[in-house]
Amino acid sequence: MKILLVSSEVNPYSKTGGLGDMVGALGKALAHAGHRVGIVTPLYAGIREKVPGLQKLALPLDLPLGSRQVTAEVWSLDLSPSLTIYFIDQPSFYFRPGLYGERGGEYPDNAERFIFFSKAAARLAIDLPWQPEVAHAHDWQSGLVPILLQHQRLQAGWQSPIRTCMTIHNLAYQGLFPAWDYALTNLPSDYFNLNGVEFYGLMNCLKAGIACADVITTVSPRYAREITTPEFGCGLDGLLRKRQDSLFGILNGVDYEEWRTSRNPFLKHSFSGNNLAGKAKNKLALQAEMGLPVAADIPLFGSVTRLADQKGIELTLGALEEMLERRMQFVLLGSGDPAFEKAYRDLAVRHPDRVAVRIGFDAGLSHRIEAAADFYLMPSKFEPCGLNQMYSLRYGAIPIVRATGGLDDSVIDLADDPEHANGIKFSDYNTAALAKSIRKALALYGAPDLLRHYRRNAMAADFSWERVVDSYAKVYGASQPA
Ligand code: ADP
Ligand code: GLC
Repeated sequence: MKILLVSSEVNPYSKTGGLGDMVGALGKALAHAGHRVGIVTPLYAGIREKVPGLQKLALPLDLPLGSRQVTAEVWSLDLSPSLTIYFIDQPSFYFRPGLYGERGGEYPDNAERFIFFSKAAARLAIDLPWQPEVAHAHDWQSGLVPILLQHQRLQAGWQSPIRTCMTIHNLAYQGLFPAWDYALTNLPSDYFNLNGVEFYGLMNCLKAGIACADVITTVSPRYAREITTPEFGCGLDGLLRKRQDSLFGILNGVDYEEWRTSRNPFLKHSFSGNNLAGKAKNKLALQAEMGLPVAADIPLFGSVTRLADQKGIELTLGALEEMLERRMQFVLLGSGDPAFEKAYRDLAVRHPDRVAVRIGFDAGLSHRIEAAADFYLMPSKFEPCGLNQMYSLRYGAIPIVRATGGLDDSVIDLADDPEHANGIKFSDYNTAALAKSIRKALALYGAPDLLRHYRRNAMAADFSWERVVDSYAKVYGASQPA
């Protein structure tokens, strides 16, 4: 099959969270499985310096954006004969310090930036000489791709239209803009209604994709069920229920070429399920790096996260406040909401021997934390899939998660299955429930045989993309033009 992925983030070129990881890895996995794959993404500042060998494509873009014309160049990078990245080069839109904003604020012209991006991707879907059969859009930034292609299809009366797939990575971010920004799409007003782009008088980019794509996927089976309920539906549950027959939940995979515990350039010491000595050494190294007391026998908890309400930060802060009188350490790497950043900094100041905090984004440190930690905290309020709990499983850091979305689908608690238990799950969204799970973790730490059993299960868990890539191929094939 010939597939064009469209995403505002692609690891290793750009990433603010799991979206970049997922699209980069899915592209690789589809290409490995024998498909022809292209990935369209913006050329952000810094990419050109990092990636030598970009080739200018003989497909210059000159597209209407409301009342003006905007031009862009397309640069391609062939990673293999069957995998090409297409970078949309429009410096005034994408050559900035952030992807979506700076210092906690969004760029005011994000509607223009990502409507233009969606138009550029739709144009490539039509004009690329290898003629993609499927355009697969990810999140609101490319949410207009299905509707733009549908419109082209109707106008041109194509014989073999491109099928469209819309993946929801996080329903909480919908790309909402004032109604007047709809003019930037240059689409007829017919699509600005209840069944299309309109949402309580606003323009909603993700809704456009959900309404118009031939098929919709989300990143775990449980989240696929959750988003059809008012509690998790973010106002779109009605539409999602309507489209339920075309909605599929496919659990994300892990790129184990990147997330590996041996010969990993970010880790000082290699380790494996049968040889945990390297993990113990990584723990000592991290304690030293973070300025904590260096001691092999203190249980170490870790977290690497966007500091956003979704991630249950208030629970972590509350539960730690209660638990830190015990002998334990906690290491955090994260950035986001300034109030959460401050709360963590304050916690570290109050508990200098127990807590170390790094505010920022640091890929190397994220690997070192997962490799060093005995336990990994992820008490999300909701979690479409979550990748860090899967990374922590592979790195032998027992995940402590709230049973929601992909966290529930990927972690096995003692209560689910004692033989295969690899983590600790709790249900109630409150501090006491998380504190109780941390107490369970401390008890587990005091029972080395059981801890070894958990670790072995955790490190053996297999979330490789090869297991799920066929599900995408099936879904693409199942999609029928609207
Ligand atoms: P989400 O996409 O909701 O943020 P995921 O668990 O799916 O959550 O993916 C998060 C990804 O972003 C992981 O690869 C994680 O390591 C990475 N990440 C998050 N915050 C940071 C940070 N401060 N530094 C480095 N990597 C981070
Ligand atoms: C989103 C979700 C996260 C998911 C990631 C990749 O950022 O918040 O749960 O793992 O997308 O699909």
